[in-house]
Amino acid sequence: MSIDFKVVTRAAEMRQAIVHAQQAGKAVGLVPTMGALHGGHLSLVDASLAECDRTVVTIFVNPTQFGPGEDFDHYPRTMEQDLAQLRERGCWMVFAPTVEEMYPAGHETIVDVGSIRKPLEGVARPRHFFGVATVVLKLLNMVPADRAYFGQKDYQQTLVVRKLASDLNVPTEICVCPIVREADGMAMSSRNAYLSPSGRRQALALSQSLELAKEMFTAGETDVARLHAKMLESIQAVGGVEVEYIAFVAAGTVDLVQQIEGPTMIVLAGRVENTRLLDNCQIGF
Ligand code: PAF
Repeated sequence: MSIDFKVVTRAAEMRQAIVHAQQAGKAVGLVPTMGALHGGHLSLVDASLAECDRTVVTIFVNPTQFGPGEDFDHYPRTMEQDLAQLRERGCWMVFAPTVEEMYPAGHETIVDVGSIRKPLEGVARPRHFFGVATVVLKLLNMVPADRAYFGQKDYQQTLVVRKLASDLNVPTEICVCPIVREADGMAMSSRNAYLSPSGRRQALALSQSLELAKEMFTAGETDVARLHAKMLESIQAVGGVEVEYIAFVAAGTVDLVQQIEGPTMIVLAGRVENTRLLDNCQIGF
């Protein structure tokens, strides 16, 4: 059965539609995005379509999660293309609020999830997770879905979202879906569009360094300092990538480890042609 596809810009209308669907016994899935949809986003939409009766995608480039001098003004905006893809896939509604709808005059409340927002991304982008946590909580209130889907590529963001949902008793189930990669292994990201062909080739060094660490770990290396040094060396050998951090943390946390003794995430951020790129993988299952 096909369902009507609708784009909504008002929070009250959105919320009412969700409540009606739920009263009619429909499970609703939410996929929050900033648009410029790629295969990673679509995998979240597909997970929601498979697990829920109705799928809502939000498209909102959230100004409060960008710092001064960051790419808010230039962030890719491809609304028509995004809507066409979502309609074709069987999405039910798109919620695309204006900045004024999301942050009316007088809006002051900020969500601070505490210590997990501070390391890693929090060092380069000190206010980033205030913006993410605040907008995600607002979206979960405006679109009170049964399940909400987030991508593993933004590892620390998934921890922030789980923490706010748990600390603030948000009833929506938070679901995290695997990273989707290009054929050569590069993690999909809306920001990949900023890269020139040569920058794109250089950026591949990031995902390749994760592969190298996985191979070394499989061959028996558990010392983080040695794994870290080899990853850095392999990225520097390619050139063009400024590594911001490569961190080994206990899975599900931002706590650094020195030895791989259990499930561990390797998380990294690098800058290529002034574009910040993130990637991660898990080792030591
Ligand atoms: O991951 C993103 O695209 C954004 O951080 C999110 C979760 C949609 C909040 O603006």
